[in-house]
Amino acid sequence: MTKLKNDLFLRACKRKKVERTPIWIMRQAGRYLPEYRAVRKKVDFLTMCKTPELAAEVTIQPVDIIGVDAAIIFSDILVIPEAMGMKLEMIESKGPKLYNPIRSISDINRLRKIDPSKDLKYVLDAVSLAKKELSGRVPLIGFAGSPWTLMTYMVEGGGSSRQVGTEIKKFIYNDPKSAHVLLDKIADAVAEYLSAKIEAGADAVQIFDTWGGLLSPADFEEFSLRYIEKIISQIKRKDEPVIVFAKGVHYKLNKLANCGADVIGLDWTMELGKVRSKIGNKVSLQGNLDPTVLYGNEEKIRNEAVKVLKSFGKNNGHIFNLGHGILPDVKPENAKFLVDVVKEESKKFH
Ligand code: CP3
Repeated sequence: MTKLKNDLFLRACKRKKVERTPIWIMRQAGRYLPEYRAVRKKVDFLTMCKTPELAAEVTIQPVDIIGVDAAIIFSDILVIPEAMGMKLEMIESKGPKLYNPIRSISDINRLRKIDPSKDLKYVLDAVSLAKKELSGRVPLIGFAGSPWTLMTYMVEGGGSSRQVGTEIKKFIYNDPKSAHVLLDKIADAVAEYLSAKIEAGADAVQIFDTWGGLLSPADFEEFSLRYIEKIISQIKRKDEPVIVFAKGVHYKLNKLANCGADVIGLDWTMELGKVRSKIGNKVSLQGNLDPTVLYGNEEKIRNEAVKVLKSFGKNNGHIFNLGHGILPDVKPENAKFLVDVVKEESKKFH
């Protein structure tokens, strides 16, 4: 195995000493980069995901172009529902669509049990290839959606123009038993998938619970957190850190900090310092600059980035990131400016 030349991110995940705060950006391999759009112009989104050479190429772009301290494999959380048998389409400027959404136990029974080494071989090949092409420059992150977030898409049928949240709520309140059968099935698939990604070369994994915030505190525990815990306890790993990003669940941070994850990713509505004093130092924190700050000028970006660093304060265990994915119309030079500012300013905090 190649030794990493820059392991700041992995050290920060384990709350070890670092010389400066590492930074990567959620959705860093994406449309704000002209280099990404050039590749994307040639093929559709899913073909890109399914062609390891192209997926590896765009995975590495943000490392070369904006200088982040970790790469995240280019793919999508919805490859799992597709592998389980649902027809997936990414509709230009509208988002994902899953055909024949799940509405009953018979729909659930039709879903296949996946074997990642066959059904998602293309992702594992992309991981191995990206890992090889990175040749130890920075660590590589693998990811999956949480069972709750994946179930939301599977039941809603995508992130359509309709408000996400009505169909999924009807489902869990009218048929909680089937909802739990489905969540359990997805959790097993995600655990196997993340284990396979680690085996293929991922140095860390992140679980995205983008729709956790749709739930009340008690429901979050029942329908989301429980299955995140199950996954973490089932992932086969040595020392590879697990990150959990749950959007909009400020009311559950104590529970989240005890779910077995090494790192909790926060959205921008929380203050890192306050969260730290509330949950202590048992996990590292990742985040949490408001993604729209990147629409601002350099002075604004610097001031807001320093606020985030100051809020966390002097200590190990912070990974700088945005509070959600980078937006497609952000100027790439602003993203690079943020990376440079964090690299420079964060030295004072270590
Ligand atoms: O972070 C990275 O750079 C890795 C790539 C990545 C993508 N999707 C690529 C992508 C990651 C980590 C994801 C995760 C993902 N996918 C999530 C969780 C993170 C989050 O943002 O909350 C979710 C909810 C999805 C589902 C999904 N995929 C949506 C809702 C959309 C459409 C919305 C949009 O941003 O266009 C996608 C498509 C998608 N996934 C794109 C990219 C780069 C844009 C498609 C394109 O290039 O045409």
